Amino acid sequence: MAVNKSLFLVEHDKNGVYHAFREDVLNGLKQSPKAIPARWLYDETGSQIFEDITELPEYYPTRAERQILVDRSKELSQLIRSNGAVVEFGSGSSLKTPLLLSFLQPSVYVPIDISGDYLRSSALKLSSQFPGIPIYPVEADFLRKVELPEQVVEYSKLGFFPGSTIGNMVAGSAVDLLRSMRETLGDASQLLIGMDMIKDPKILIAAYDDKAGITAKFNLNVINRINRELNGNLPIENFRHEARWNNDYARIEMHLVAKESLQFSVSGEVFTIAKGESLHTENSHKYNERTANILLQAGGWTPSHRWLDNQNLFSLILADATIPRSAP
Ligand code: TRP
Repeated sequence: MAVNKSLFLVEHDKNGVYHAFREDVLNGLKQSPKAIPARWLYDETGSQIFEDITELPEYYPTRAERQILVDRSKELSQLIRSNGAVVEFGSGSSLKTPLLLSFLQPSVYVPIDISGDYLRSSALKLSSQFPGIPIYPVEADFLRKVELPEQVVEYSKLGFFPGSTIGNMVAGSAVDLLRSMRETLGDASQLLIGMDMIKDPKILIAAYDDKAGITAKFNLNVINRINRELNGNLPIENFRHEARWNNDYARIEMHLVAKESLQFSVSGEVFTIAKGESLHTENSHKYNERTANILLQAGGWTPSHRWLDNQNLFSLILADATIPRSAP
């Protein structure tokens, strides 16, 4: 989860967070269609609920990606340059990191995260699990180029970006992020990235609208947060969670749909929402082989290998840093 939190949380100080949250919500509510940036879903409660999502029977991405890592560990260790540094974009708090570290046995591990707390607690855990691998955590916003610690400069670098977190960004931002990673890691680096596959919308919608209602709870939680932190009075019982497949953009969208026409206020400003109108809270873009390739290439990466789980639900892609050329 820290991956997602880190992706979207940029402010360090409480006051700054409050103002950014307020700005984002007030601007988002004035927009049409109305939207709330996804990063605000991940407060303490949201982050806890998100952990539960990864274990839901309908939510296949976490299990599928883990399965690929396990099944392909031998191939991966042959294809990834040995004696290297693993640089994870995100704090490495998921179960995938220990999996990767145990079969790659890199010389160093560098987790990058904006949240120092997450970074330190997960680095501590990993260092007791892997006493032979030095860990150099970097507290930074990886949407921009990150200065890596000098201890890793001479190693060949593998960027690790699991969880299909790239899918939570629209194409333009995803390309910006890939280019930043390319800059952070430098020439001769590799990237191992998880991307969720385009598939039957029924399977996708179920993954984002589970029977137990956990994803609904996760989405609706942002309303509680607005009410609590921004002095809002949105009637939470008059909103329902909806996961929608947007075929034009090949993405799942999460919405909070108004069950009635409503009037409410946030931070002293009054808003109305019509019955059936929604607040758009999250995107999760899905890819096939060609669209994944073009996204990676636009971001400065040349895909070299691609693996799917045994149900073809999820893809794990290995790419090389593209060396710029002056002609076709
Ligand atoms: N990146 C993952 C995905 O899109 C995890 C995720 C982000 C997610 N936001 C979510 C999962 C909201 C469920 C609901 O699937």
